[in-house]
Amino acid sequence: MADQFGDTLAGIVREKHVQRGDAIDERYRKDLTGKYSTAPGWAVRPGSTAEVSAIMRAASEAGVPVTAIGGQSGTSGAAVPVDGGLSLSLERMNQIREIDPLSMTMDVEAGCILQIAQEAAEAQGAFLPLDLGARGSAMIGGVIGTNAGGNRVVRWGMMRDMVIGLEAVLADGTVVSSLTKMLKDNAGYHWKHLLIGSEGTLGIVTRAVLRLRALPSTRQTALVAAPSFEEMIRVMRRLEVSLSGQLSSFELMWADFYETLTEAQLPSRPRPMETGHGIYALVEAMGGNAELDGQMFEGALASLMEEGLLSDAVIAQSDQQREALWAVREDLSPGFTPRRPFTAYDVSMAIADMPRFVDAALANLKEAAPDATALFYGHAGDGNLHANVSNGKMDESIKRTFDTAIYRAVSDLGGSISAEHGIGMDRLSYIGMTRSSEELALMRTIKRAIDPKGILNPGKVFEMEG
Ligand code: LAC
Ligand code: ZN
Repeated sequence: MADQFGDTLAGIVREKHVQRGDAIDERYRKDLTGKYSTAPGWAVRPGSTAEVSAIMRAASEAGVPVTAIGGQSGTSGAAVPVDGGLSLSLERMNQIREIDPLSMTMDVEAGCILQIAQEAAEAQGAFLPLDLGARGSAMIGGVIGTNAGGNRVVRWGMMRDMVIGLEAVLADGTVVSSLTKMLKDNAGYHWKHLLIGSEGTLGIVTRAVLRLRALPSTRQTALVAAPSFEEMIRVMRRLEVSLSGQLSSFELMWADFYETLTEAQLPSRPRPMETGHGIYALVEAMGGNAELDGQMFEGALASLMEEGLLSDAVIAQSDQQREALWAVREDLSPGFTPRRPFTAYDVSMAIADMPRFVDAALANLKEAAPDATALFYGHAGDGNLHANVSNGKMDESIKRTFDTAIYRAVSDLGGSISAEHGIGMDRLSYIGMTRSSEELALMRTIKRAIDPKGILNPGKVFEMEG
């Protein structure tokens, strides 16, 4: 059968980088959840920004919808192509162009895997602070497209805070490029911030200049427990000061989460701390004084124990112990797999409102789905909570019941339905619960101005008709 558009793609990138119809690999059809499996018409793997530009020009002329594909570690269906559309993978554009250890910047292509970028920075005595569980698969373009956060936001911010320069291809093939290394630039609108977190709906990120930091040389890690949430947040505030600015992670785990996860992990590692505490947190500090930082960390935790703000603390004494403590928080699969099918949330609210949110979410669930259980954990310093909700069954109506229970609790507290993982397709019908109609109208105006034909990742984030 004649395939004119496929032939045009092959003319740009060569036939071996084009897949058509049924022959398209699974990887270009779905994300980590596997929930959406679509039937794109084509998959293409460009090797340069010029090729991405030529592809977008062709797609724009032919009216073919285009979805950028990265590591596919997303969970909201944002990077799942449209049926009959084009799946555009950035995987071949994976070079680190430059690390500048004086300016502290990294110039990197969108298809570079996060962990590879982290390791390359470290090899030069520099530090790319963005870190998250999917570091081994997530690509730079994807973490920019979703404005990823992860486990060090409390100190170094999220992706938006690390993107200094950006290069992207717009719907009509225009290349917009500002690959600057300057931190400060107040000459007009910062268009990069429109693209960061836009989930591929406004442009295709091809390359970026990221802000690096001087590589910390010490790392202290502990698992701590407190009688209650309020005490745990006071612990966090105290450590922000008593660790002299070194606090870099503060990952909260509600008791049910800790108990379930450590129980399921027992075949791989012993439980690092007894159960029975009110709430747990994984705490990490990064600094530069090998002699004093360990003492400072131990001293700070010891004072908090004496005052009764902490009920227990276990400090890692080796890299192996550090990894074992992090695994309590990050090795989610033994604890979560038996809960399949489940629904996962990444909501946010004022930090002080977190306990009220948990209470309201549980009350809403009890009313609507009494057999459901919910495990809460998250990034305390960011007001970002994850919830894993399951009653062992799943269909459209059960999912809607869970979604409504969680999002009602969030919207009643003035929070957001997504702090990290974005809207994609999964939350599309709920965005109006925490974004006003005026905000959504402004988003539509921007989308129409930048992508008038609506070919960039349509059907994601919000409906075009208000
Ligand atoms: C985490 C992912 C779910 O924080 O965002 O583990
Ligand atoms: Zn998270």
